[in-house]
Amino acid sequence: MTETLKTKPRVLSGIQPSGNLTIGNYLGALKQWVEVQQEYDCFYCVVDLHAITTPQDPAELRQKSRESAAIYIASGIDPEISTIFVQSQIPAHSELAWMLTCMAPLGWLQRMTQFKDKATKQAQDSIGAGLLNYPALMAADILLYHADLVPVGDDQRQHLEFTRDLAQRFNHLYGETFTLPQVMTPKAGARVMGLDNPTAKMSKSEDAENHAVFLLDDLSRARKKFMRAVTDSHREIRFSDHPDRAGINNLLTIYQAITNESTLDIETGFADKGYGDLKKAVAESVADTLAPLQKKYFELMDEAGYLDSVLKLGREKAAAIANDTLKLAQDRMGFLPPS
Ligand code: TYM
Repeated sequence: MTETLKTKPRVLSGIQPSGNLTIGNYLGALKQWVEVQQEYDCFYCVVDLHAITTPQDPAELRQKSRESAAIYIASGIDPEISTIFVQSQIPAHSELAWMLTCMAPLGWLQRMTQFKDKATKQAQDSIGAGLLNYPALMAADILLYHADLVPVGDDQRQHLEFTRDLAQRFNHLYGETFTLPQVMTPKAGARVMGLDNPTAKMSKSEDAENHAVFLLDDLSRARKKFMRAVTDSHREIRFSDHPDRAGINNLLTIYQAITNESTLDIETGFADKGYGDLKKAVAESVADTLAPLQKKYFELMDEAGYLDSVLKLGREKAAAIANDTLKLAQDRMGFLPPS
């Protein structure tokens, strides 16, 4: 099995091209992806099959899928080292997802918080069954590559537990087939909250103007969003998990995730400063990160053919591994091989 051909431990992760990527996606996922790419054999996927669990405009989905791949590279993913590919271009993802869906107990799927959250926001008749089955597709993404580590934000932890449970169930029923992956979340920035409402996770699908800072936001606009961030009527600048202090805690966390400074150093640095100073400092640290990212992004989008060649190469490399694993799983489940 492909597991034995690994030269390094493997990483797999993905982001849905279902909107504009936010600093939550960057701090929860992309920043970690860059950090692990020397040590691991990394596979980074544009998960367009996940995006269609909610309705997408076809032209926009195509555009966002290319944009996402360019953002991966602009954030520091080196296509010479890591493999970047589009999920729907490798049919093995859909095929294994179906096999895993058939083995996934309905109760496990119905318990997923993300499903419950999204399902309550939509009328029952308009919810596609894909929203419920979504974790089985995510499990397929991970298990096809025998991934050892999956760097994600906090909101994906439950899906990782589901993946492990499902892999264990398959291995138990059909013999050792899949590697059980470990989740990896960052120390700071695993759950970036909305700037307009710091008790709700920052999300790319939220429309309110001051909710999210997008990676491609004009920098002056991004700065303004920070200056307008909801805080509180206290004065102290300290990390805290008290709900009243969620706004300040969120700003401090974003600052810490970007600067990698210790909690003590940050609190000492802001000891005699006001909320306006903190907002300005966070805005500047984020703008300093976004400026080179955006420059690289626009260069990539201008360079005809480059992105397509990266995705073609990525598809070939990923498909070779995914197809091997799929074949093994099909054999274990008892499918008649083509003659
Ligand atoms: P998605 O597209 O919702 O988010 C992509 C990544 O960004 C992280 N993230 C955040 N981190 C911190 N704060 C936030 N506010 C925030 N918002 C999003 C997410 O945790 C995630 O790591 N199901 C996944 C995509 C997926 C996947 C996979 C991930 C599909 N297959 C296989 C890993 C492995 C999702 O919807 O992520």
